[in-house]
Amino acid sequence: MKTIRYMVLVSDEPESILRGSQDVFRRFQTELKGFNIENEVALNTLTDIGRHDAIPMVVIYPEAVVYGPVTSEDVHHLVEEHLLNGCVVNELLAPARELTGPIAWVRARKGTIPAEQRIVLERVGIIDPESINDYIIHNGYEALGKALTSMTPAQVMNVLEQSGLQGRGGAGFPTGRKWRFVAGVPSPKKYVICNADESEPGTFKDRIILEGDPHSILEAMAIAGYAVGADEGYLYVRGEYALAQKRLVRAIQRAHDFGLLGKNIFNTGFNFEIHVHTGAGAYICGEETALIESIEGKRGEPRSRPPYPTTHGLWGKPTLVNNVETLANIPAIIRNGSVWYRKFGTPNSPGTKVYTIMGNVNQTGVIEVPMGITLREVINIYAKGMKNNVSLRMAQTGGSSGSITPASLQDTPMDFESFKRAGVSLGSGALLICDENNCIVDLVKTLLEFFRFESCGKCTPCRIGTQRTYEIVTRIYQGAGKMSDLDELQSLIGILDQLSNCGLGQTAVVPIRDMLKHFQATVEAHISLGVCPSGICPMTNPDELDFQTQAAGGQATAA
Ligand SMILES: Cc1cc2nc3c(=O)[nH]c(=O)nc-3n(C[C@H](O)[C@H](O)[C@H](O)COP(=O)(O)O)c2cc1C
Ligand code: SF4
Repeated sequence: MKTIRYMVLVSDEPESILRGSQDVFRRFQTELKGFNIENEVALNTLTDIGRHDAIPMVVIYPEAVVYGPVTSEDVHHLVEEHLLNGCVVNELLAPARELTGPIAWVRARKGTIPAEQRIVLERVGIIDPESINDYIIHNGYEALGKALTSMTPAQVMNVLEQSGLQGRGGAGFPTGRKWRFVAGVPSPKKYVICNADESEPGTFKDRIILEGDPHSILEAMAIAGYAVGADEGYLYVRGEYALAQKRLVRAIQRAHDFGLLGKNIFNTGFNFEIHVHTGAGAYICGEETALIESIEGKRGEPRSRPPYPTTHGLWGKPTLVNNVETLANIPAIIRNGSVWYRKFGTPNSPGTKVYTIMGNVNQTGVIEVPMGITLREVINIYAKGMKNNVSLRMAQTGGSSGSITPASLQDTPMDFESFKRAGVSLGSGALLICDENNCIVDLVKTLLEFFRFESCGKCTPCRIGTQRTYEIVTRIYQGAGKMSDLDELQSLIGILDQLSNCGLGQTAVVPIRDMLKHFQATVEAHISLGVCPSGICPMTNPDELDFQTQAAGGQATAA
């Protein structure tokens, strides 16, 4: 079986079709077959590209070279030169010439085409993840060597702060600032924790990094240890990620063999050890303080904060907790510097973001793209359009605790600042794309079922609130809702948001809030007309509702 080496996209909006793009597409099919490379090239179409002076346009990835206008007569030459010989066909670049070049440069121009930009996934799928030699050949441990032998801890943190990297675990907290907090606490013992719990439904970006490039996380943790003054680290890995754990354990052994972990690394007197800790299957253990409790051998329940882990973390010691994707950025930033890193993404959200794409699209999967790309671009380019051409109704951005955005927000740049302005959460980077055949009430009910099940039960607003909101939305889903339910939901949103002890209870209200904000008419149709506009919700007899038996956690009260 051959693997895909190239992706070729041919523009196919109406004007492109008028100018012969379908002939171009068909010619590609013939030529790829003729050269016997049809299994190595993914051929697809590209909808509105905003460059009508260069159509029919052809974009070839992974280089993101843009050709246009292309005629069917050009295709043979293009396939031969670009796909077989790896050469850019210069005469076909005009007038789209300015669209080519490194992606940061391309992104700077409005209306241009974004390409995948790999920083954290750079080596994934290219190196053998079980070979430390392979990692080293691909710049591995170069950043650790540079940090230990030519930079002070303060210089490492300066570079990180200047890079503008923000945490990729959900909240987007500035990473350099967090490192500085931990570094600033005087203590003979500190810890670094990599949060690899990743239990957010639909999110699997961290798994791809851990399985495909485990040494990058070890290298990043050691750099973090050096910067903040820690000599011990824990990798808290989701229990179900057996392959990732196996590879991490092996990588730790090999790094020890090479003197890249353990005592006196690079002969600098710096010591660093890493332990792998297996999670036990609770979503709440991804919350950093619950995770710390879990490593300490206690029930995984969040602590009250303050104090924060930066001062009182694992076994009461100052502790740095970072997400896998956050850490995976560190070696590249130290190697190439903050100015290089800031070339990607937007001024306020530099770098890239790894997204997992799911739902009613033609292609699901994982991508790494510059911050600031829009949902429309993700759907049209990387997801290859909506399935069966049914229109987008809504998308959930950021996993279960993320926002539900209507189709009208699909042109909002996906970066921390723009999303915050639009009242949307970037969250973990899971994108659930839903078409017109999906119903918001059905989606919110499913999410609330998840939250009430995963609520750890430590605090009353969340324990009761997640159950109560689930009951109300289920009633609406079943066609038995009342208009007064909407008032009760609003009041529960306030209680959960303000009184819950941790992020689980606070974010459980996000889907409800978004439902009432963007889809009020649909909810009212369920209540006042007793119909689901999408024909999804069952509208069954309200007497059939039985929350006692549905509530596996035993927290239910009858509706
Ligand atoms: C219920 C809940 C689950 C969480 N799950 C994860 C997770 O699986 N992985 C993660 O990195 N952060 C998770 N977080 C966020 C962490 O508490 C913490 O903010 C994050 O690990 C910090 O890393 P960062 O600064 O690199 O983003 C979760 C938070 C909450 C409230
Ligand atoms: S908000 Fe929910 S998950 Fe968080 S401590 Fe309270 S009960 Fe537990």
